[in-house]
Amino acid sequence: MPEKKEKFYLTTPIYYTNGLPHIGHTYTTVVADVIRRYKRMRGYDVVMTTGTDEHGVNVERAAKKAGVPESEFVAKMADAWRALWDELGIPADEFVRTTDLTHVRTVQWLFKLCRENGYVYKGHYTGQYCIYDNAFVNDAKPGDNCPDCGRPLETITEENYFFKLSSFQKPLLDFYKKNPGFIQPDTRRNEIISFVEGGLKDLSITRTTIRWGIPVPGEEPHVFYVWFDALTAYLSAVGGPEYEKRGYWPADLHLVGKDIIRFHTVYWPAFLMAAMLPVPKQVWAHGWFLMDAAKMSKSKGNVVLPRPIVNMLGMDALRYFLLRDVVFGQDGNFSYDALVTRYNSDLANGLGNLASRTAALIEKNFAGKIPKPAALKPQDEALAKEAQAAIGEVLENFDKLSFARALETIWTLIAAADKYLTSEQPWALGNSEADQFRKATVLWTTAELLRIVAALAFPVLPDSAAKVWSLLGQSDALGKFELDGLRWGQLVPGTSLGKSQTLFPRVDKTEAIERIESMANEELNPPKAVPAPAASAPAATGASAAAAAAPAVSDKIGIEDFAKVEMRVGQIKTAERIVGADKLLKLTVDIGTEIRQICAGIAQYYEPESLIGRKVAVVVNLAPRKLRGVESNGMIVAASVGPEGRPVLTGFHEEVEVGARLK
Ligand code: MSP
Repeated sequence: MPEKKEKFYLTTPIYYTNGLPHIGHTYTTVVADVIRRYKRMRGYDVVMTTGTDEHGVNVERAAKKAGVPESEFVAKMADAWRALWDELGIPADEFVRTTDLTHVRTVQWLFKLCRENGYVYKGHYTGQYCIYDNAFVNDAKPGDNCPDCGRPLETITEENYFFKLSSFQKPLLDFYKKNPGFIQPDTRRNEIISFVEGGLKDLSITRTTIRWGIPVPGEEPHVFYVWFDALTAYLSAVGGPEYEKRGYWPADLHLVGKDIIRFHTVYWPAFLMAAMLPVPKQVWAHGWFLMDAAKMSKSKGNVVLPRPIVNMLGMDALRYFLLRDVVFGQDGNFSYDALVTRYNSDLANGLGNLASRTAALIEKNFAGKIPKPAALKPQDEALAKEAQAAIGEVLENFDKLSFARALETIWTLIAAADKYLTSEQPWALGNSEADQFRKATVLWTTAELLRIVAALAFPVLPDSAAKVWSLLGQSDALGKFELDGLRWGQLVPGTSLGKSQTLFPRVDKTEAIERIESMANEELNPPKAVPAPAASAPAATGASAAAAAAPAVSDKIGIEDFAKVEMRVGQIKTAERIVGADKLLKLTVDIGTEIRQICAGIAQYYEPESLIGRKVAVVVNLAPRKLRGVESNGMIVAASVGPEGRPVLTGFHEEVEVGARLK
C-alpha cells in the first residue's frame, strides 16, 4: 500500500463523434473502469480519462448531412457518448472533448514547443488518404482502396507543416529498449520495433483542405491534423500546459485497440520527446471484438449495442462476459449465445446461487446471524487455504491485466465452495450439539469464502459484488475496501445478514437472445418522432404512449377522431414481471373476442398477483409493438397521478361484460 496516495492516470482512446458507441468501444471503457476500481482498492489516487475526438473531414460531412453546424453536431454526439457512459456506470473522471478550449490551447502549445525545438517545418505533401480512418496510406497508388477498411482512397496534395519524425528513430528505439514494458503485449512491441527499425518518414501534422479543426495560430488556413490533435487530449485532460500542478502526467497507462497502437507508441512519444515533455509509462493494445469474424462497423451492419444487453442481463453480466471470455490482448468473437450461456452458468448458477443458498441456510439455522466456526476439519482448512492463495493469484493477475485468469481463479473458488457444500450437506445435519457446531463451521466457511469472492470480484462486478457484500452484513462501501488487507478469517461471527435479493435471475436462452436482438433493432431503427402526450391525456401504460398522444394542432377533436380509438373492457388473466424491465408487467388480457398479450408500465405500483381477474379499459386497436423486446398488443388505460405520474388503473363500479365497447 503506497504511504501517501500514489497517483495513477489511465486513459481510453477518445472516440470519434461520427458514430455512437458499440460493444467494441464499450469494451475499452469497461476495461478502464475495472482497472480504475482495482487501483483504487489498492490505495491509488486514480484518474481515468475518456472523451470525444471531434475534428476532421468525417465530422464536417456528417454535420452537413444532418444540416447543422459542426459545433452543434459534435456537442450532441459528445453528450450522447457521455450519457451512455453515465448510464452504464462507467463515467470518466475527466471527459475531454477536442473542441474544449483547454485542449485547443494545449495543442497549440505543444506545436509551439516542437517548433521552437526545431522539429517542425513547412512543406508539400501528396498522398493517398483514407478519410474514414483519417490516415495517409504509405505506398498506396491513386485508385487504390484502403487496406484497412476497403474503401476508396483519395489523392491529397497540400501545403502542410511536417513533424520531423525521422529524427526520432534512434531515440524511440533506445526508449523501447530502456522501457521494455512500454508497449504491451510483447507481440505488439516486436511489431512496433520492426516498424521503427524500417525507418520513419516525416509526418504531416496540419491540413489546409480541412476547415473543421484547431487553427495553427497565425498560419490560417492551417488546422491541426487528426493525430496531433487527438493524442494531445490525454495531456489536456489533466491540465495541459499546467500539467505539473495537477501531477498526473505522465500517464501510467494508455489503453488502446490494436488498430491505433502505432499512433500511440511511435507518434505520441516522439511528439512529447520533441517538446521535451515526459513520455507515458505504458501503452496496452487489446484485440478486437469481432462479429461474424469481422470488425464491427456501422457500415457493415454488424454492430452489437451495449444497452439491450444491459437491459436484459444487467451491466455486471456484460462486464463479466467481456473480461472473462476473451484473453486481454487477443481478438475475440462476440456471440449472444456465449454471453447468455456464461450468464446462466457462471453468474446465475455460480455466484448467484452460492450466495442465495448460503444466506438461506444461515437464515434458517442461525436466525440470520453469521455463525461462529467450531473445530475445523481438513476439508475446511483446505478451502481456507485455497481462498487465501486465490487472493494473491487474483491480485497478481489484475496487476498484469490478465482479467480472464483473475476471474477464472475466482470462479474456481466458487466451484470449490459449491462442491464443499454439496459434500458437507449442512442441511442434512440434525440438532445435536455436535451437528450444530458442524453446521456453524461449514456455513461460516462458505460465507467467508463468499466475502473474499465479493471483494476480489468487485472491480469487474461492482453492483453484484456490493450486493453480496451487504448480504453478508458488511456495512462499509466495498469500493473503498483495501484489497491489501484482505485475509481469510476476517468475517466476524454474530454479524447480521443484510436483506436478501436475487442477484442474477436465470433466463431462457432463446427468449433472452430474441429480446436482446429485438431491443437492438428498436435502438438501431428508432420509430419516427411523434408529438409528446398532452398533459391531460390518460397515462398510456401499454403499447405506445406516444401513439396515444393528443394531436398538437388543436386542443379539441371531433367525435370522428375519438371514434378511431377502439376501447373495450378487458379482464386481466395473468400478470408477471419481466426480467430486465423493472417498470413493465407482462399481462394477458381477455378482451371478449380474444386473449391479448399487453405490456403495462405499472410494475412499480402494482403487484402482479393483485391484478388477476381485474377489469380494466383497454385500447385494442393500437398497432402492436415490442417493449423491451416483449410483444405488446394493445394498451391498458390508467390515470396519471401526482408529479411522478403514478399510474392508477381504470375500473368500473357496476358489473360489465368483458369485451363491451367504451364510447
Ligand atoms: N479517435 C480515434 C482515437 C484517438 S485516441 C487519441 C479512434 N476512435 S474510434 O472511435 O474509432 O475507436 C477507438 C477505439 O475503440 C479503438 O482503438 C478501440 O479501443 C475501440 N474499438 C473500436 N472497435 C472495436 C472493436 N470491434 N473491438 C474492440 N475495440 C474496438 O480510433
